[in-house]
Amino acid sequence: MTTTERPGTDAERLRGRIAAELERTRARTALLTDAVDDDDLVRQHSTLMSPLVWDLAHVGNQEELWLVRDVGGREPVRRDIDDLYDAFKQPRKDRPALPLLPPAEARAYVRTVRDKVYDLLDGIRFTDRRLVEDGFAFGMIVQHEQQHDETMLATHQLRAGAPVLDAPPPPEPRVGVGGEVLVPAGPFTMGTSTDPWALDNERPAHTVELPAYRIDAAPVTNGQYRAFIADGGYDQPRWWSEAGWRHRVEADLGAPLHWRRDGDGWAYRRFGRWSAVRDDEPVVHVCWYEAQAYAAWAGKRLPTEAEWEKAARWDPATGRSRRYPWGDGDPGTAHANLGQRHLWPAPVGAYPEGASPLGVHQLVGDVWEWTASTFRGHPGFTAFPYREYSEVFFGDDHRVLRGGSFGTDRSACRGTFRNWDYPIRRQIFSGFRCARDAGCEE
Ligand SMILES: [Fe+2]
Repeated sequence: MTTTERPGTDAERLRGRIAAELERTRARTALLTDAVDDDDLVRQHSTLMSPLVWDLAHVGNQEELWLVRDVGGREPVRRDIDDLYDAFKQPRKDRPALPLLPPAEARAYVRTVRDKVYDLLDGIRFTDRRLVEDGFAFGMIVQHEQQHDETMLATHQLRAGAPVLDAPPPPEPRVGVGGEVLVPAGPFTMGTSTDPWALDNERPAHTVELPAYRIDAAPVTNGQYRAFIADGGYDQPRWWSEAGWRHRVEADLGAPLHWRRDGDGWAYRRFGRWSAVRDDEPVVHVCWYEAQAYAAWAGKRLPTEAEWEKAARWDPATGRSRRYPWGDGDPGTAHANLGQRHLWPAPVGAYPEGASPLGVHQLVGDVWEWTASTFRGHPGFTAFPYREYSEVFFGDDHRVLRGGSFGTDRSACRGTFRNWDYPIRRQIFSGFRCARDAGCEE
């Protein structure tokens, strides 16, 4: 952590980095909201999602609350709209009926807020308060906007109508990857106390002792998942938990979201375009119950969150935990399918440079991976900067997802980064991999 600030060096570099991250992030927000017309922006494409124009102004409102008012100590820009864009006060399904800022006003509002942020960034001292130490509050706002961008991307995936998003396909496989990797018994460091922009739920670093286990070297693919469907996986309650089977029946689940039968095979709708399901891509748009049923059918189980993180970060040569599977350096284009550079998961084997020291592939990027774990604070957790960021979600209702998807920005994805959602959710870019105890041989 920065304790002293050398003017013209560290602080200037940090200022430059923050400005670049804010700008890069806003360009993505603009791409996602400029891609559709005003009518589309104010419409609700699914009751699970907000109108895109709500996300846009909400991003600006959070930036106003934290950076303009709190960090900057400036006068409010629009105190009158705080309640409208408070995610806790306004359930998603009710948001279209609110007197939201129309698109032009929402765009003007986020621009006004951003101009004030650039202005206050110029004079900020990163040593004044813990909230701004190492630029944390700015990093939190960058991550918040990027997370809403991913949510907006999921809204685009649910949206009917002609395609409006385009991107080159992800890279082809460069190595064959399959089977399982044995992770030896022993301790590893989970979480972080030093990553400057890590959020409260990733902290603090602590030692976790795990027995030996095996984990899939790659996420479960469409081809593997199709075998589960073909084997009657959706028709046999024995593979499902009680709650899972109840949901499977009620929601009439029979395949991942956005799939449909196509002759003998399956087709998959991606951002308005139908294509054949490709067997070597990680399966995406499955809920936790589906992931858990598949794992049971395969004679395995979902990894716990600690098992996922040890496979991703633990380096047997040094005994320390890396920031990412490939090392401590930020993700590059050869490491992982992140940042909406592509609009779907890359086939297994496409990112050999992103593998972990133990040889586990595609942990970061492609698909969020469901884990067996419910969302809890790490031992020693303290809420920062507010309870509503993570703590109010702790408990048995949510399952943890790790690793990020093709729609996750690098700023919102570290080896320690934790996401959470309800076990029935599958509009998110969610897939999974399996694990099992090392002692249990087939
Ligand atoms: Fe939010």
